[in-house]
Amino acid sequence: MKGIILSGGSGTRLRPLTKITSKQLLPVYNKPMIYYPLNTLIKAGIKEILIIVAPERAGDYLNLLGSGKEFGVKFTYEIQDKPAGLPEAFIIGESFIGKEDVTMILGDNIFEDDFAEDIKSFKSGAKVFARRVPDPERFGVVKFDDQMHAVQVEEKPQTWISDYALTGLYVYDNRVVEVAKNCQPSSRGELEIVDLHRWYLDKGELDVAMVHGEWLDAGTFESLLRAQNFAKEKMQDKMVI
Ligand code: TTP
Repeated sequence: MKGIILSGGSGTRLRPLTKITSKQLLPVYNKPMIYYPLNTLIKAGIKEILIIVAPERAGDYLNLLGSGKEFGVKFTYEIQDKPAGLPEAFIIGESFIGKEDVTMILGDNIFEDDFAEDIKSFKSGAKVFARRVPDPERFGVVKFDDQMHAVQVEEKPQTWISDYALTGLYVYDNRVVEVAKNCQPSSRGELEIVDLHRWYLDKGELDVAMVHGEWLDAGTFESLLRAQNFAKEKMQDKMVI
């Protein structure tokens, strides 16, 4: 299993904080934000991690994270020229992924849960992680039938279909590289990760697990503030880095 941390983007909602640095390098209590998703991958036993960054910030990531030796893992870096959508990670990462399966986590997502079992037991298909939220229209969402089998996935639905948001942690088998390459940009001009989920769902191979603990994406001032307090109160004993 290879790992990817997608840590590009423009961070416009956090300006002016993100004018001189990347969102995922901002402090979350006593660590840079990216340490939290990195911690999630390391705890799952993933040893080879691709970090995808925006061109103007690449040097900062290298300075902070280096080769990975300090963390007992190996880092590879790639540049995403423009934030063209999450599936682009698998196109940029094609040669890094090689013939293996891949877990991707977003660089601004902080999870309380430990996903080691879910990731280590992964065999094939796609595995994504859902959590009930009060504001599903902000997220990709998944609808379940009575037996809690996923039946529909939608990106930021305008009309309500479900309260279950899909979080920024995704496990795919190797086919995801080809699926991403065949993805077409949406009306907002981006490749959409929901299209990858839909491809697996249509084949009956989308497994949706629940996130039980806290989950935050630290992309707004409100959520960044919550992330700071949450990291201080709840994450300190969960960090191995
Ligand atoms: P977003 O929070 O949706 O986008 P952003 O980080 O650019 O922020 P803003 O909306 O405030 O401008 O992205 C979610 C995560 O995915 C974040 O960690 C950045 C990352 N990302 C990329 O690295 N490349 C991309 O093409 C996209 C769409 C997101």
